[in-house]
Amino acid sequence: VIDHRRAYLAEMLKDNGFVHLVSQDFRALLNHHDATEWADFAATWNGMPLDREMADGGKYRRRRYGAFRLYDGSAILKPHQPHYQSREYNPLNGGRQRWYAPISEEFIRHPVLAGIWRLLTPLFSTVEGRGIHSPWDGELHQFRIEASPSEAGQPTPEGLHRDGVDWVLVMLVNRVNVTAGSTNIIDEGGRHDGFVLLDPGETVLLNDRRVRHGVTAIHALDPTLPAYRDALVVTWKAL
Ligand SMILES: [Fe+2]
Repeated sequence: VIDHRRAYLAEMLKDNGFVHLVSQDFRALLNHHDATEWADFAATWNGMPLDREMADGGKYRRRRYGAFRLYDGSAILKPHQPHYQSREYNPLNGGRQRWYAPISEEFIRHPVLAGIWRLLTPLFSTVEGRGIHSPWDGELHQFRIEASPSEAGQPTPEGLHRDGVDWVLVMLVNRVNVTAGSTNIIDEGGRHDGFVLLDPGETVLLNDRRVRHGVTAIHALDPTLPAYRDALVVTWKAL
């Protein structure tokens, strides 16, 4: 069943440049079924520091960041480094080095993350017949976007964009008291798809060279209560 699902992933990525996976399917692919373990994973999104590098002055984003060297069989954390995107890819926040808090030891060692490396690095190494299993630069972002009565939360304030890499994973980790926040994807031919990631573990995989992506603003359902959307973004860039 897993091999069948893996083949489906490769086929969808080849045909469409992206694939949207419901939570149950993606967690099965990660071979991850333990609810307590998932709760521990999601809990590493709590208490993250504010993103102080927002060019729009927004205070609605919390995050942690880690950079890796990825091989088909392993993921090696690099010494902590700044995140850099060119202005071409991120007109709002690109063009300068941005420093974020590092990801935690607990997160780095978590079985869900191990499952992501084990499933996806070999898949991306083969899906377009890259052939040589050479290493990738991997970047990992934990995001919490908060909506307050005075400020909408912008998951992607730069709008529809490319990350400037080869492959991107966007996984919903949690949605609490939140409405909207639609994920939009557009390919080179202008073909559009849109959906709301609702369930913890629901995931989209993107060929960043073929499609652009963005997420619309989130709003609080009940403005008197905390409202937030937690997501994991991981990128693979060929060296
Ligand atoms: Fe992005």
